[in-house]
Amino acid sequence: MAHSNRDGFSSKFGVIAAAAGSAVGLGNIWRFPYVVGENGGGAFLLLYLFFIVLIGIPVMLSELMIGRKAQVNAFRAFPSLAPKAPFFKIVGIMGVAAAFLILSFYGVVAGWTVEYIWLAVTNQLAGQSNAELKVLFDTFSGSTIQPIFYLVVFMAMTAFIVRGGIQNGIEKYTKVLMPLLFVIIVVLCLRAVTLDGAMVGIEFLFKPDFSKITGDVILSALGQAFFSLSIGMGVIATYGSYISKKENLLNTAVSVSFADTLIAILSGVAIFPAVFAFGIEPGEGPGLVFVVLPQVFSQMMGGYVFAVAFFILLLIAALTSSVSLLEVVVAYFSEELKLERKKATVLAAVSITVLGVFCVVSPKLFDLFEWTSSNLLLPFGGLLIAIFVGWVLDKEVVRAELESHGKKVAIFKVIMLIVKYIAPVAVAIVLLQSLGVF
Ligand code: PFF
Repeated sequence: MAHSNRDGFSSKFGVIAAAAGSAVGLGNIWRFPYVVGENGGGAFLLLYLFFIVLIGIPVMLSELMIGRKAQVNAFRAFPSLAPKAPFFKIVGIMGVAAAFLILSFYGVVAGWTVEYIWLAVTNQLAGQSNAELKVLFDTFSGSTIQPIFYLVVFMAMTAFIVRGGIQNGIEKYTKVLMPLLFVIIVVLCLRAVTLDGAMVGIEFLFKPDFSKITGDVILSALGQAFFSLSIGMGVIATYGSYISKKENLLNTAVSVSFADTLIAILSGVAIFPAVFAFGIEPGEGPGLVFVVLPQVFSQMMGGYVFAVAFFILLLIAALTSSVSLLEVVVAYFSEELKLERKKATVLAAVSITVLGVFCVVSPKLFDLFEWTSSNLLLPFGGLLIAIFVGWVLDKEVVRAELESHGKKVAIFKVIMLIVKYIAPVAVAIVLLQSLGVF
């Protein structure tokens, strides 16, 4: 975001809506259920919640604090707050790399939602059997021309919004559309839990089977927490730079994380009862929601309208996340590499789209990008952010920023304890373990 137009958000709800707009996206509705399914259900959910509270919220708070204190984007924030610790510039650089990788596969999945809007509008999803929906998804996602076409459409939309500067648009739309998406998901949940055989799905999601916990499951839960909250790469720091000093950052971090987690869990509640009721494999993979939800819509009164509205809102949720990703790259190109903003937007969007085309033709590359960004780059970025706030910044500077709204933060000591010791150690252990060090 250019410094010249640091106008900030117009309301408290606007900031939360925009940060929640970045957090709530395909990660909650597409990725969360399929990763839960692949990792055995309840025990994964428990680990995920544990990481959200213990690491996610403190890292989000740290990012908000860094951005608001520095009043600049994520690359400048670290060197400007700690000129003597130039190493931390790496967080900004890794953030750009992560944004590149994430957006290239994210754009592909968002493209799938565009196709599903079309299928819903033309009523091609209704009344299809399980097997037919699976074939439909596999054939479509395994082809090349159509997914590439939709990827290009989606990236063009993202670039269009980013080019115009993002606050205005984001604040205006997310305030209305996110609550609407929430309502639709709640309705979907109600339908799903009243299906015959729904309880098995609820148990799968909520009843932990600790024998399912392995090193990979722990890493996936951590990666999903980072991915879903949009933390570890500077996006939230950039939003933080737009928040007024009157706001309570701890409240913001907790509200955004709460909203994000709620939507993820509700998506699980909408999907798993149906997965079991319809006899679908929970470990189905990235196609899970695209195969399951159309069947739930078929079983609903007004299913046609719900299906169309759902996929449109899912696309919008994806857009409010993708603009925050593209913005990271554009801010880097325009502010660090001194490219004109419009040129920077086109260059970033085109190069990411090209990478996305590779993800369409190679599912292996898709998986690799997804795995590396969420399970390595984001947690590592989060580790450095926690160390930066816990060890590099002066404690009183941190306190002053967290209390700039004029009230004491009663749990400041607890927060510092987590940011200084618990979060870095926990992330380091999970990362080292996944690299085979233990
Ligand atoms: N949090 C987004 C989602 O759950 O869909 C994805 C995302 C956006 C990840 C922005 C990282 C990010 F910086």
